[in-house]
Amino acid sequence: MVNIQSPWRNDFPALSKTMSGQPLAFLDSGASAQKPSAVIDAMDAVLRGGYSNIHRGLYEISQNLTQSFEDVRKKVAQFIGAPSDKNIVFTRNSTEGINLVAQCWGRENLSHGDEVIITEMEHHANIVPWKILEDQFGITVKVVPVTSDGILDLDAFKAMLSDKTKLIGVVEISNALGTINSITEIVQTARAYNADIKILVDGSQGVVHRRVNVVDIDADFYVFTGHKLYAPSGIGVLYGKYDLLDAMPPYQGGGDMIERVSFKSGITYREAPFKFEAGTPAIVEVIGLGAAIDYLSAIGMDKISAYETELATYAQKVLGEIDGLTLYGPKDISQKAGIFSFTMEGAHPSDIGMILDQCGVAVRCGHHCAMPLMESMGIDATARASLGMYNNQDDVDSLVHGLKKVQQLFIG
Ligand SMILES: Cc1ncc(COP(=O)(O)O)c(C=O)c1O
Repeated sequence: MVNIQSPWRNDFPALSKTMSGQPLAFLDSGASAQKPSAVIDAMDAVLRGGYSNIHRGLYEISQNLTQSFEDVRKKVAQFIGAPSDKNIVFTRNSTEGINLVAQCWGRENLSHGDEVIITEMEHHANIVPWKILEDQFGITVKVVPVTSDGILDLDAFKAMLSDKTKLIGVVEISNALGTINSITEIVQTARAYNADIKILVDGSQGVVHRRVNVVDIDADFYVFTGHKLYAPSGIGVLYGKYDLLDAMPPYQGGGDMIERVSFKSGITYREAPFKFEAGTPAIVEVIGLGAAIDYLSAIGMDKISAYETELATYAQKVLGEIDGLTLYGPKDISQKAGIFSFTMEGAHPSDIGMILDQCGVAVRCGHHCAMPLMESMGIDATARASLGMYNNQDDVDSLVHGLKKVQQLFIG
């Protein structure tokens, strides 16, 4: 039998470490991914010899770093198929991108009685900002249910559309179930109903696992977060159609986002995307994001996707063979990314996590910031193993070995 081996594993120095005295099987990339040497080296190089503030220094290192920083905006645009770097706002993470849209677009475009549709499988980052608008402006948040197969009930979604629907917020790939949503179908259905409905796609897990083209999916807004894309934490991206970004008021006020500040004649703002980037940005982290994108682009997202699908197919099969283990999410692997949420009879997810830790296997246990989804499934937590481009079959085998230990200890 073929042993599935990632050709990229050695690019990630952290994976040669041990955990609890065992070789590390890192299966928590859905929470945050390990970083390749290319990212670590690029950040290190800036800190060791090219660091300064950007957008304001007249001296060489500041000018050079400003250029490199703005080049990353271009790289991000190209990576997700955006028409221009002017569509790319740097944020701290996905959470900030969604809050920015809720507060800036929402403030201008939503009023009492308007409706925002989200889904039951959203991360809290795409729930709470809209619920805050319910309190602020009296809008209504409607929620598309998830079927027992872990997919969105699109008939219920269609029935929810109304003249009051102003925006749909939907996750591309569920971090808790691995479900790959039919974003194109959702966008087309909404547009056919009313071309003015805006669509925000939470691509936090999507951009990591497959090639994204924001123009093809016709999203109005698309957010993702660097730390899941093999880049550092502290940097995220909001893509927006330019006319929407241009019409939105600023998010925060401060340096770098203004054209002019005068107590006599008032304040004018820079154009988008700069008017949304108040204060000194995450300079080194942006350079790290650029290095991650270069690294991934040189390999090709299609190649990474194909590899991950092969490993996910194997994982789905071997996890399915463990007695007493319930896997959540779609059974059909073509509808699912390499994210496996499960419970085991007789063992709480945190017990599973602790035993796996002793076996060198890192998984996430809890509600995965998707409490409403857990509620709808009638559970409070799952254990979740999530694959990255660097995982090998051996990592999955270590997981299975650890789960058999859990079985022995808790089930007998
Ligand atoms: C689907 C999804 N959306 C949003 C987020 C929030 O990402 P961040 O905490 O980087 O803002 C996550 C992180 O787990 C996620 O998986």
